[in-house]
Amino acid sequence: MATNRTFTMIKPEAVAAGSMGKILDMIMDNGFRVVAMKYTRLSRQEAGTFYAVHKERPFYGELVEYMASGPIVAAILEGDNAVQRFRDLIGATDPTQAAEGTIRKRFAESKAKNAVHGSDSDENAAIEGAFFFSGREQF
Ligand code: CMP
Repeated sequence: MATNRTFTMIKPEAVAAGSMGKILDMIMDNGFRVVAMKYTRLSRQEAGTFYAVHKERPFYGELVEYMASGPIVAAILEGDNAVQRFRDLIGATDPTQAAEGTIRKRFAESKAKNAVHGSDSDENAAIEGAFFFSGREQF
């Protein structure tokens, strides 16, 4: 199986709830290596650019406000089949649909405030990682 990369954010409500360490434990216990990581806060403009693919969706305004509402943790992760395995670990977007043992089942508040982001493809993982990290911040 190929080793490749995905990108994640621990979102504002999960950071505010003090769940950052527990979520990072789950990520690392599941065999992901941290390639890059930062504790930061998105401006509204940055959140809008990051989620521009959802610009036409009815929840876009709410999503941008929420993602800019407090600090987040952004990280690039490496592992076998990283994008799909990470999506399996975080669970469905809607926490009421997320499987037992997933990060969203345990930590998400709602479909909007769903604790973590995970890239949906190798291509988007590269784009999203490059949004936050220069080449020399990746190890
Ligand atoms: P994420 O995986 O980061 O990708 C897009 C985000 O949009 C998603 O997680 C949710 O935070 C948010 N989102 C998706 N669907 C809805 C919805 N129906 N209502 C509100 N927010 C949503």
